[in-house]
Amino acid sequence: MSKVHLIDHPLVQHKLTLMRRKDASTNSFRRLLGELSTLMAYEVTRDMPLQDIQVETPLETMTGKVIDGKKLVLVSILRAGNGFLDGMLNVVPGARVGHIGLYRDPQTLQPVEYYFKMPSEMHERDIIVVDPMLATGNSAAAAVARLKQLEPRSIKFVCLLAAPEGIATLQGAHPDVPVYTAAVDRELNDHGYILPGLGDAGDRIFGTK
Ligand code: URA
Repeated sequence: MSKVHLIDHPLVQHKLTLMRRKDASTNSFRRLLGELSTLMAYEVTRDMPLQDIQVETPLETMTGKVIDGKKLVLVSILRAGNGFLDGMLNVVPGARVGHIGLYRDPQTLQPVEYYFKMPSEMHERDIIVVDPMLATGNSAAAAVARLKQLEPRSIKFVCLLAAPEGIATLQGAHPDVPVYTAAVDRELNDHGYILPGLGDAGDRIFGTK
């Protein structure tokens, strides 16, 4: 079974609590998500592989370390995943960005892909999939399955909040994909919302209803 990494840094926990408040404005929700995703990116990229290179300082030559391999790819699950991008790009400004759009078929309740755009040479890259809410886990599992067809070097999944049901679904389908989250909440309600949660992340980021 893959690992669930709970990012319990005090700043992350503090900002998450402010985001949960129902009276947080769109402006502050978006700003907090940006700050949080920067902090989470720092933790999620902690084990990125390094390679040695020679570097000339003003005084002498030394062996320094730089990130190994092709540029990382952040993959946003539309639309709420986009709320993670700017904050993460603060930490990895050279990262490439892919987008995947999925909707739930009302008959089968299964995710159907409507958009998929990725950088080239995915088989040589590490992928970080971002979506603020891991609720049922169906979209996350479908997105990861689609990305695996491109045979990337690795895949991680990052969310703000996870439901136990979503973790079970994603880990059941993809035991090799680690999950990074700022909190695991109690449960899903009958409409697929996380409890206690923070509501509809997409609506809160974009100010829609
Ligand atoms: N998506 C959301 O935006 N919120 C939830 O609680 C569940 C899924």
